[in-house]
Amino acid sequence: MRTEQEIQFENEDRNGKLRTTLFLQKGDRVKICRCMKSKTFPFCDGEHKYFDVQFGPVVVHVADEEKHEKSDPPRM
Ligand code: FES
Repeated sequence: MRTEQEIQFENEDRNGKLRTTLFLQKGDRVKICRCMKSKTFPFCDGEHKYFDVQFGPVVVHVADEEKHEKSDPPRM
C-alpha cells in the first residue's frame, strides 16, 4: 500500500474552479479533505478536528479484487 505522499495528483483550473485528480492504484487508501482546512490538501491531515466543521474526510479505498470479496460491507 502506498502512502498519501507517494500518490500523484494533479490540480487544474476548470472554469475558474479547482479540480483535483488523484491517480490511484489497487490497494491505495486515501483520506480526502472536505473541510478545506488541511495543510496537505487534497489529503486530510486531521486539522478538521480543531474547527467547528460538519465534515471529516472522505475515505477512498481502491480494493484489491480478492481482498474486496472478503472485506466487510460499507457502513452507511
Ligand atoms: S483536514 Fe479536512 S477533512 Fe480532515
